Amino acid sequence: MFNMAESASESGNIFSHIMSEIIESPLNLALVCLIAFLIYKIVKSRTEVPSFTPPEPTLPKLKKRDFTVEELKKYDGTQEDGRVLVAVNGNVYDVTKGKRFYGPGGPYAAFGGKDASRGLATFSVSVKTEEYDDLSDLNSMEMESVREWEAQFKDKYDLVGKLLKPGEEPTNYSDEEDESSVATTVGGAGERTKED
Ligand code: HEM
Repeated sequence: MFNMAESASESGNIFSHIMSEIIESPLNLALVCLIAFLIYKIVKSRTEVPSFTPPEPTLPKLKKRDFTVEELKKYDGTQEDGRVLVAVNGNVYDVTKGKRFYGPGGPYAAFGGKDASRGLATFSVSVKTEEYDDLSDLNSMEMESVREWEAQFKDKYDLVGKLLKPGEEPTNYSDEEDESSVATTVGGAGERTKED
């Protein structure tokens, strides 16, 4: 015959048996802790409200223009708008979206506002000269490396204009002109060759 009291005490026995099994065996105890931790993580991840970090406002596209080495300098990300420009192979790129690389404190901050060509070609994360660098002493492999780097920059960043040689007049870009007028080849209009 079904006895309620017996059944209750039986289930109580099973429960206390399980509890003593858990407590007495360190392995079981560890497994229970692990399961509890995993359940906690799952519940937490489901209930957590994702934190919202507003995206950095994007700057308006720079009007096409050429830069002297001196003019380029101020675009190292320290200005109020935080814009960063980098020259590679005679062309200037707006690398602001790669600010974490080239902006203040970034691993390649030395390239911000500078001509990075020589550094990129010689695996040096620094720019040694404050003057215009004609790269004429780089060998053909190094120049090839400069061009490959430039292709990457061209792929990822906006081209702004040319890096001017000393005494070179800036190009007068009209509003209608498209980017191809600045850089027609991978090397670009500002490309420097050994013959330059
Ligand atoms: C131990 C040496 C180095 C390590 C571990 C390293 C690591 C990296 C990594 C992981 C990235 C890709 C970052 C990303 O796309 O999220 C990167 C990008 C880059 N690295 Fe390096 N790097 C090293 C040395 C150098 C050197 C010597 C140079 C130049 C002289 C250099 C120039 C660059 C440049 C220009 C980028 C591209 C950033 C962009 O997308 O604009 N790196 N590096």
